Amino acid sequence: MNWKKDDGMTRVLITGAASGLGRALALVFAQRGARIAVADIHAERGAETVTLCLQAGAAEAHFLPLDVGIEGNFADAAEWVSRHWGGLDILVNNAGVAGGGSFDGIPEADWQWMLNINLLGVVRGCRAFTPLFKQQQHGQFVNIASMAGLLNPPGMASYNVAKAGVVALSETLAAELSPWNIKTLVVCPSFFPTNLNESLRTHDAGMKIALPRLLGNQELSAADIAAGIVKALDQGESQYLPHPKAVEAWQVKCAEPEKHAAALRAQALKMAGLKQP
Ligand SMILES: NC(=O)c1ccc[n+]([C@@H]2O[C@H](COP(=O)([O-])OP(=O)(O)OC[C@H]3O[C@@H](n4cnc5c(N)ncnc54)[C@H](O)[C@@H]3O)[C@@H](O)[C@H]2O)c1
Repeated sequence: MNWKKDDGMTRVLITGAASGLGRALALVFAQRGARIAVADIHAERGAETVTLCLQAGAAEAHFLPLDVGIEGNFADAAEWVSRHWGGLDILVNNAGVAGGGSFDGIPEADWQWMLNINLLGVVRGCRAFTPLFKQQQHGQFVNIASMAGLLNPPGMASYNVAKAGVVALSETLAAELSPWNIKTLVVCPSFFPTNLNESLRTHDAGMKIALPRLLGNQELSAADIAAGIVKALDQGESQYLPHPKAVEAWQVKCAEPEKHAAALRAQALKMAGLKQP
């Protein structure tokens, strides 16, 4: 297991760890006695995560104010882990926001906001820590993408594009950085309950109604997905797709792309309020 330190004190930094999947992951690492940096823009919830991590058995837990939309914040975080921990074993690029709606209604400013956080936020994390990981001759990136980046459902163009970019980046780095023993795991969940709806930016009234419903999907909890991610790390995997139903759709897309395209067109017709021809 490449990512576990011999002393059992794995050093982990998780962006967006104040809430949802990031917090759930912090707790799983805490139960293993890891040292955890909870990096987020939400200081109050971040402090709650720190307390929960210490209660769950973390060797250390700290809140780091970090906006993934600002390059310099990652440089500060890399400097912090080098100074306090002498390095880092795992960087989880998890912070993200929700957005979308009908394509022609998404303003360029919202595209830039989405890509800056959900795609460039991951690029920045990987860029900031690759030199340290190369120097250490080991390191693990965990990049939280989405099934949206593989299935590309209608009505979510900006989110789909950002998450597809995270998949592409992760697959590239999994190969390119392997000579330095740097691993990359990309995670593509379907919907699960979190506070993601709080960040929603959309012009589309339908999306404002639909997203909270979709986030109510009880197939898996954030804790289930977090446990699955750590298992995938233990097994040295490079891709983890937690939701079985979404995996079925992905398999259809790979084996019968026209069938998948027809299903998406039917979904789009429903969203547009039109009848199937
Ligand atoms: N919940 C879902 O259904 C779902 C499905 C697929 C993928 N995801 C992805 O999972 C990840 C975690 O989201 P979640 O569902 O736990 O949502 P969440 O809103 O509960 O947690 C996201 C966290 O990211 C933080 N954040 C937002 N912008 C930030 C920024 N610029 N810098 C630093 N932190 C920032 C928020 O403060 C929050 O604590 C996201 O990348 C999301 O796209 C979620």
